[in-house]
Amino acid sequence: MVPERIELRGRAFRLFVRRDEIAERVRALAEQLRHDYAGTEPVCLIVLKGAFVFAADLLRQLPLACTIETIRARSYGAAMVSSGTVHIEAPALELRGRDVLLIEDIVDTGLTLQELVRFLEAQQPASLRIVTLLAKPAAHHLGLPLAYIGLQIPPVFVVGYGMDYAEAGRNLPDIYAAEPIAEGQSGL
Ligand code: IMP
Repeated sequence: MVPERIELRGRAFRLFVRRDEIAERVRALAEQLRHDYAGTEPVCLIVLKGAFVFAADLLRQLPLACTIETIRARSYGAAMVSSGTVHIEAPALELRGRDVLLIEDIVDTGLTLQELVRFLEAQQPASLRIVTLLAKPAAHHLGLPLAYIGLQIPPVFVVGYGMDYAEAGRNLPDIYAAEPIAEGQSGL
């Protein structure tokens, strides 16, 4: 039984996307990528930490001779809104002339990805595209190469399947959405 409602760090969350729907979206994305990247050897760059679960499921369905790397971008701290400040930690990457596929869990404002894209484009890859499991409405405002989106969602805060609320909830197999804060209750 998948619980309909859970609590994490004192906040209530409701079941939002079940594991079977997630699996179906991941399968569809993998099919598109298999087709579009056939015969290429892309560098798949997993954006840590949130995308690690999605990437593990996605990459195991891609029979490509790809290289897998990780990159870390921090923007949120412990809050539920984007701080607008992005720190990038990356290994030494040789991306010149390579096809780069950035694997992200969720795009909210797109500011994190905008910084990552700037950083990666400076290395002159042959191509750079983003695959994200989830995208919120604001994601489309910055003209990012959001080539593959698993699911468009409303501007709600979600946890599970790699995504966290103050580091809690990443290991949930389903995705949950934060319930609105009741009047009189304090926020974060
Ligand atoms: P953006 O810069 O506003 O697009 O935020 C991007 C990053 O914030 C994502 O990579 C996530 O790590 C995190 N994030 C955005 N929305 C959520 C959410 O609803 N739940 C958990 N993390 C989120």
